[in-house]
Amino acid sequence: MSTIQLRTPIPGPKSKALHERRGKAVPRGLSHGTPIYVAKAKDAWLEDVDGNRYLDFAGGIGCLNVGHRRDEVLDAVRDQLDHFLHTCVQVTPYESYVRLAERMNEITPGKFAKKTVFLNSGAEAVENAVKIARAYTKRPAIIAFEDAFHGRTMMTLALTSKTHPYKAGFAPFPSEVYRVPFAYCYRCSYSLKYPSCDLYCVRHLEDTFKRVVANEEVAAVIAEPVLGEGGFIVPPPDYFKALVDLCHKHGILFIADEVQSGFGRTGALFACERYGIEPDLIVTAKSLGGGLPLAAVTGRAEIMDAPGPGGLGGTFAGNPLSCAAALAVIDLFQRENLLARANELGDRFQRRAREWQRRWPVIGDVRGLGGMQAVELVQSQGTKAPASEVTKKITQYCYEHGLITITAGSYGNVIRVLVPLVITNEQMDEALGVLEAGISAVCERKDIVPQLV
Ligand SMILES: Cc1ncc(COP(=O)(O)O)c(C=O)c1O
Repeated sequence: MSTIQLRTPIPGPKSKALHERRGKAVPRGLSHGTPIYVAKAKDAWLEDVDGNRYLDFAGGIGCLNVGHRRDEVLDAVRDQLDHFLHTCVQVTPYESYVRLAERMNEITPGKFAKKTVFLNSGAEAVENAVKIARAYTKRPAIIAFEDAFHGRTMMTLALTSKTHPYKAGFAPFPSEVYRVPFAYCYRCSYSLKYPSCDLYCVRHLEDTFKRVVANEEVAAVIAEPVLGEGGFIVPPPDYFKALVDLCHKHGILFIADEVQSGFGRTGALFACERYGIEPDLIVTAKSLGGGLPLAAVTGRAEIMDAPGPGGLGGTFAGNPLSCAAALAVIDLFQRENLLARANELGDRFQRRAREWQRRWPVIGDVRGLGGMQAVELVQSQGTKAPASEVTKKITQYCYEHGLITITAGSYGNVIRVLVPLVITNEQMDEALGVLEAGISAVCERKDIVPQLV
């Protein structure tokens, strides 16, 4: 039986009315992917206020790897509700914070002694990773990458690459952030090809240290192991090993921002494991909390201890409900085979998307790691000119036909999959069927696709 059930034209009358109220009450800066308003959700589906049921490829932007409202997460939160809601861990601490820190220290890559501090959001955690790196190295500079996304606070906007809509109009940003090209092989900034490039983008950092910022001024290099908002860009297998080695040669810390790629998304608990690297600091958020707001910085104990007492923290950071939820999430990953499932879902997507690529020239690239998969849409496979309008039309078609998708990429021309890993094969096939019909509907209309060659 189909999971998608549409009872009204989309958006339905109740969603439309709510959207009108939102327009008056909420600033336009808070954009909306779809104008449908949610009434409830479970596993990999959402139901709106008009009774329409959708499959969810967005998962709250990668926050629901274990599924919407997992029973185990709900039970843990309910139990916490019966005890206390908030005390502020800096004032009167609680055991779940400590237990979760111990678990994070165990499960993150690297056998060395580690410590963990909790924050509320991915951006806040990235901010703290930068503070910790600077306190430890006593150096000011941070190197970030083209197409990176690290958040919307001022420091993380400085680290984020995309100008519109994130950065434009909000300058000045904090200084001492330097940007270099990432290993975006489909659009290599140096017009080279892997592997004959011999990882020029890593080697070129030595030049950056001579011409842009001195290596002894650099506290850390920060990178997403798979770029998220930047377009699900997966670097070559030996890229991160070379990058981390180069950092360590110069006493520079490597910070892995696993806010989007972490917690099982790529078929390993952390994408760093897929590259065989052990970051000095690892930033997590999103699916860590199983739907509740929680973020963490985990790292080598001596680095984490660099800021003095009072240097880290926040009123709600590591709140008891989120800690309880996160402990349940980690148990779920240890009990269920969600990592293998991420790989299976990734393979299922790739098989289908490769067919689309053969059939429709608008599919420029199919890429991903485990369950972190995407297609990049282009006006022509030859020119690779981004097909942003086409991408928008496909995602519009999808939600009108019961599949919630989100885009990514500096040109907004990537459709990404962040589906809860508990989706069934039948549901996945149903969702891919909608996406395929969307691509077909848009491609077959020559007025929408400018120039297919
Ligand atoms: C890689 C990465 N880092 C940081 C952030 C910021 O997280 P938050 O929105 O929780 O502040 C995001 C959000 O999408 C992200 O994908």
